Amino acid sequence: MFVGEGPGEHEDATGRPFVGRAGALLDQALRENGLSRKHVYICNVIKCRASVVENGRVRNRPPYADEIAACHPWLDRQLTIIQPLVIVCLGAPAANTLIHKNFKMTQERGIWFPCKYARYAMATLHPAYILRQEGESYQQNYRLLVQDIAAARQKVIEAKKEPKTTLF
Ligand code: URA
Repeated sequence: MFVGEGPGEHEDATGRPFVGRAGALLDQALRENGLSRKHVYICNVIKCRASVVENGRVRNRPPYADEIAACHPWLDRQLTIIQPLVIVCLGAPAANTLIHKNFKMTQERGIWFPCKYARYAMATLHPAYILRQEGESYQQNYRLLVQDIAAARQKVIEAKKEPKTTLF
């Protein structure tokens, strides 16, 4: 299960997660791992677009703590119904919500943590963040995303072999 930050313009309009440019990059990284949307469940921490108007243009902004809290019952239901073995948080807001509240992407990216909702959780770079990088930085960060998805795929394979435990 992948948990992103919140809908952008296209996601808000369609009601579907990661259907814009960030979603296309996520799809590419999944494909490099032999995966597609049919293998994964994708959702967001907040359920409506967090936006700000700047110079007459609407742009996305990180969600506020009260918005994350207001949307939590929906995320909680999704996680409880899906019961993922492995969660990959895309970006810091998801990691702060599901792993721990002081999560630091630069220090803790790609590390496995226990989580209330899954046997294992980790966080990786948000595809929208990667899209904002250029040149070598873009390539390096994209490779980290691909590498972390590969690790998550492997973790699911390993977790399926572990004895079943009750998660809830
Ligand atoms: N970014 C997110 O965090 N979620 C989406 O659904 C799209 C972009």
